[in-house]
Amino acid sequence: MQKLNLKTLKKEAKKRIEEVKDLKNLNRLYHIYSSKDKGKISQIFSELKNFPKEKRAKIGKEANELKNFLEIKFIQRTKELKEKAKIETEKKEWIDITIPGKMPYFGHLHPLTLIKRKIEEIFQSMGFSIVEGPEIETEWYNFDALNIPKEHPARDMWDTFWLKSKARLLLRTHTTTVDVRYMKKNNPPLRIIIPGRIFRHEATDPGHEINFYQVDGLMVGKDVTVANFKAIILEFFKKFFKKPINIRLRPSYFPFTEPSFEVDISCLICNGKGCSTCKKTGWIETLGAGMIHQSVLKSAGLNPKDWQGFAFGMGIDRLTMMKYKINDIRFFYSGDLRFLKQF
Ligand code: DAH
Repeated sequence: MQKLNLKTLKKEAKKRIEEVKDLKNLNRLYHIYSSKDKGKISQIFSELKNFPKEKRAKIGKEANELKNFLEIKFIQRTKELKEKAKIETEKKEWIDITIPGKMPYFGHLHPLTLIKRKIEEIFQSMGFSIVEGPEIETEWYNFDALNIPKEHPARDMWDTFWLKSKARLLLRTHTTTVDVRYMKKNNPPLRIIIPGRIFRHEATDPGHEINFYQVDGLMVGKDVTVANFKAIILEFFKKFFKKPINIRLRPSYFPFTEPSFEVDISCLICNGKGCSTCKKTGWIETLGAGMIHQSVLKSAGLNPKDWQGFAFGMGIDRLTMMKYKINDIRFFYSGDLRFLKQF
């Protein structure tokens, strides 16, 4: 009976050792069969005393042989598995130096950034510097300094996000805030553009977002006139759209300029002939502008008798939409890769 058991045990152990696939499981098998305290072989030895005397020697001898047999089997298999593991890691770490390299994916700039940079480049070529200002602004710079006192109905032109603070802070509603900030610290003559992010407390639709980007422009000197403005802005549009463009100025109202005007450019689609994009007028409204109001110059500590200049403000989103023919401003902020990957 016991003889049969030992034979089966040997067969079973041999098969399992040969079939085991890795060192971890081989170790487990070692514990099952050959460990000193609980292994199956040790158990046979500890049960030896229960056998009749005449059988003990024989069983003991066979168990010993089995023990040695397994010991050798384990050593052999360990060697084999170690070799196998080594080959596998070598295979994994093997580098095929003949495979062509993979192009890393760099991504690219957002369309609004591309257009902002283009605008900056064109104005820089005409001697303008680029200036930035804070997105969280005081009521004074956003309104009062720009000739929009408290309770003035013109404040309704800008739906404002007010911050819950004692200091009457807000998210700037336009980049015009930087006009006075800059003029307070820098003496004219000066030429700057102010690109940046602004905020409006408005319902969103294809033409409106709660935050978007503007660029304001400012040129101050002893004798800067509307003629200078017209020349500069026309040059800008020609360079920006890379085609001949006409502009026209229409009277308008902004609290910080006097006189104020709206600037239209000839329709890019029909070149001024009249189409559905320009509502058959041949013109497209693009920006607000005017001669800097005397009270704004005073806010900045400048004497209007000595200095004069023009200011303008336009939407970067709007220009980007015109340039790339995009019909919904919300695409810019959706993070939709199907949209963004086209630029
Ligand atoms: N700040 C105006 C707005 O947000 C745009 C504007 C108009 C800016 C005329 C100017 C300007 O500097 O002269 O609607």
